[in-house]
Amino acid sequence: MGNAQLPIGIFDSGVGGLTVYRALHNRLPNEHFVYLGDTARVPYGTKSLATVERYALENSQFLASRGIKMLVVACNTASALALPAIRERIGLDVAGVIGPGGRKAVEMTRDKESPRIGVIATEATVASDAYLEAIRRASESAEVLQAGCPLFVPLAEENWTREPETFSIAAKYLEGMKQFAPDVLVLGCTHYPILRDVIQQTVGENVKLVDSGEATADE
Ligand code: DGL
Repeated sequence: MGNAQLPIGIFDSGVGGLTVYRALHNRLPNEHFVYLGDTARVPYGTKSLATVERYALENSQFLASRGIKMLVVACNTASALALPAIRERIGLDVAGVIGPGGRKAVEMTRDKESPRIGVIATEATVASDAYLEAIRRASESAEVLQAGCPLFVPLAEENWTREPETFSIAAKYLEGMKQFAPDVLVLGCTHYPILRDVIQQTVGENVKLVDSGEATADE
């Protein structure tokens, strides 16, 4: 098989990365994809840097062994914590989701002088400050508030997209974010677009949501 015919590999910690797959498939309908969802070991977002790095390298090596022409690290947590290690080991083009998500957020802000950007992500992604750094690279003056929303992951895995429990958990997690009143809110976890409606209703219709998977597919 010629290199162009080979599939693009995508991995995530679970089903959430299918949102990234869909975004890529819509833009690149003639490409083939191979998707790995590590549902046996989800969640990644509550685990240590060393563990996430090890899982991410194992996933990357597994996909590379299936013959792929490039790798998309759909998982925000793995992108935030393990991208340099993957790039060093894998010998393929590797795309992560943090840089595109951060750039898109800055692009979508109304106030370019002092953009207010919220980021919701796993605890590990928030602790890494990877989004903060990506946003600051695109806009030095951006004001950024990050919030971890770990329970969103099992809720999305269960497809609890309308349950009252999901709304009350969202209200609790996003209370500080509402007070911060961002212009743009980054959905910095592959699972969060599954809860998009709940998140949008909770923060208000005037806050623009950025799906980092969509932003990655655009780039
Ligand atoms: N897929 C992960 C991410 O995008 C979220 C789920 C997890 O904690 O594993 O960060």
